[in-house]
Parts: sequence; C-alpha cells; structure tokens
Amino acid sequence: MSKVIISCTLLCRCVPLRKEGFFGSCSHFYSLCVPLRKMAKASLRSALRPFFRPLWGTSPIVRLVGATSPTWGGRRQVSAASSDPARFGQLGFWEEYHQGTGQERCHHEWFLEADAALEPILPSLRAVCAHRSPGTDAVDVPTALHLGCGTSSLGVELSRHPTARAAGLQVTNLDFSPVAIEAMERAFSGETGCRNTWVVADALNMPFAPACFDLVIDKGTYDAFECADAGHERPSSQIPQRLLTGELCQQVDRVLRRDVRATWLQITHAAPELRLETLNASLPTCSSASGSVWQLWSIGCQSLGEDDNGFEYFVYSVRRRPRFVLVRTGLLQADDVDIGEFVDEVEALATAAAYRAAGSIDNFSVQPRTSLSPKR
Ligand SMILES: C[S@@+](CC[C@H](N)C(=O)[O-])C[C@H]1O[C@@H](n2cnc3c(N)ncnc32)[C@H](O)[C@@H]1O
Repeated sequence: MSKVIISCTLLCRCVPLRKEGFFGSCSHFYSLCVPLRKMAKASLRSALRPFFRPLWGTSPIVRLVGATSPTWGGRRQVSAASSDPARFGQLGFWEEYHQGTGQERCHHEWFLEADAALEPILPSLRAVCAHRSPGTDAVDVPTALHLGCGTSSLGVELSRHPTARAAGLQVTNLDFSPVAIEAMERAFSGETGCRNTWVVADALNMPFAPACFDLVIDKGTYDAFECADAGHERPSSQIPQRLLTGELCQQVDRVLRRDVRATWLQITHAAPELRLETLNASLPTCSSASGSVWQLWSIGCQSLGEDDNGFEYFVYSVRRRPRFVLVRTGLLQADDVDIGEFVDEVEALATAAAYRAAGSIDNFSVQPRTSLSPKR
C-alpha cells in the first residue's frame, strides 16, 4: 500500500505537463489539462491524506524537497536526509549542507529563486511599509525577519525593493548555521546601504525583544521543522510529543508585532491539505473563562503555480486576528463606521483617546470583534 501511495505522490509532483512536444501546438488542450490535472492532484492528495501523514517521515516529498527542484542551485544530493527526516532538525546536517553549497557559490536557494519568492511577499511588504513609513504616526522603521535564511539572498532582495528602500526596511537574517551566516556576511555585509544583518541563533530561542518584527519571511524553514517532527514521531508512545513546529509558532508569536498587518509568510511545497490543519493546530490559542478555545490567527493560502518540472509552490500568510474594533459612532446605529482593527484592547482604547485628544467632534467606542470562532 505504502508503495502505491509513494508512487502516486511522486507522479503528482514529478510528472510535468509540458507545452512542447506532441501537444505543443494545441494550447486549448493544455489549458484544459492544467485545471483537470490540478483537480486530480487535489483529490488524490485529499484521498491519500489519512495514509500520508503517518508515512510522511519516509515520503518522497520530504526526500525531494531541495534535492530535485529545478532551482536547486547546489546540485548536491541530501543523501543522509533521505533515510532520516529527523536530520532536518539537526545543526550538523545543515552545517554539512551549507558547507557544500557555500563552496560552489556564495549564495544559493533551497528552492525558488529569490526574485520569484519575493513576488508573493510584496502585498504584505506594502501594507506594513505604508503604515510605518516616515510621515505616518509610526516613528520607527519597518522590520523583517528572514527565518532560517541559510544562504538565500531573499532578505537582501527584499531590502532592495523600492518600497522597502523608501520605508527604510531593516532585515534580520537568522540561521543556526555559522557556516551559512558567515558566507552571507562575507558576500553582502560590505554592500553600501545593505540594511541587512545576519545573526547566528536557534529559531527556537531567538535573541530578540518581543513584538519587534513586522514581517517574518520563511522559505522552506517551517518545512524543515515539520520534517524533523515527522522523523521523531512516536505514534505508540504514551509520552506527549515535543513538537518543534509548535515551539517555532510560539517563538514567531513572541517576536511578531501585535498588529493586524504583521504577517508570517511561509513559502513552501506543502499543499493546503497537508499544511493548513497542522499549522492551525500548532499556532497558539487562548482559552475563555467558559473553557472555549479561541483561534487567534488567520491563515491565507495562495498557489504560486508550478515550475517547469511540475512542482507547485504555495505561500501561506499567517496573521493575528483582530480582536477589537474601533468604531466612530453616529447618532443612529446605522451611521457607525469601523475605522480600525486591533489585536489588543489597550491599543484600541489608546487610539480612541488619541482621536478625542486631537479634538475630533465624533464619538468613538471600542467593541470586541464577534467573528472570533472557537477552535474545533
Ligand atoms: C530548507 S532550508 C531553507 C534555507 C533558505 N530559507 C532557502 O530558501 O534557501 C532550512 C534552513 O533552516 C535552517 N534551520 C533549521 N533549523 C533551524 C533552527 N532551529 N534555527 C535556525 N535555523 C534553522 C537551516 O540551517 C537551513 O538553512
């Protein structure tokens, strides 16, 4: 059974539908095939899901990430990882990997070139830069954390974007591999106006103040933690499993600003059927006095399409849910207008007070958002 599942999954990921060749002249056939193939892939993934999770530790997807992607710059096989996904959580494995890629070129992408990965980040970049750029109420510059940067130049490309430049975005690139960080510092820190810093640190123990980043950018890093968790799965054990993905979510929750625009962007191969439920379960929640557990995060998912080899990429936007809304109240309830959404009531009340102090003749009230849903 496992062989069938693995072969089907391999087929879904690896058999490309190319425009050239026999069907090259028939664009209608191609445009019909792509949605059909996508539907088939999605239903196959859904059907296989119950079988797929327990097998994930040995699944070809885990083995293929980074090893056969066409944008795999290093062209090295991650041979040790193929037999043991738990190694994706080990520093020794990544040091060996970065040592190899560092010798071939100063920087290197695990998958997707940096310019392609930058595209889906831009809407969030614009949102935080518009809010925090000079001339607005926010006095300090916007900040981004490139989580598990390895030797990817995504952080550098992000800071070079005109929107980021204009707002003075500061990028912190973090990885626990000294080999990777040294290679990146050598390559880029001398660049004038670079606005990037590189930090050697464990993502599970980040040396940053709480709520200090507007954006957390993650290309393939959450995936590495998922693989490490899968490698350590002990289905029959009575001891509760220490999930690295859960710890990573807590860390991101700590360093991400408590603002509804602040976003954790995950760029990955992982399809929604495999990512949404587990990510949702790993994100911190809050309990009410009555015992209900409330979701504090919303997750958006967008397909980035397939590359020439049929690998589909996705971006997940993880944001804090607004919990309070600032309302400008009219004489009639119908005239009430929502003018701001906040994660924290204190911030919402302070903003209402600022409007009043500015001499606004309107009335303002802070109301709890009613759309928060209990977690099932
Ligand atoms: C799949 S690679 C992605 C690298 C890079 N983002 C890219 O797209 O090329 C995962 C990265 O996460 C780093 N990493 C894994 N576990 C980590 C941890 N606990 N703390 C910090 N970095 C970690 C690895 O060193 C590696 O560079």
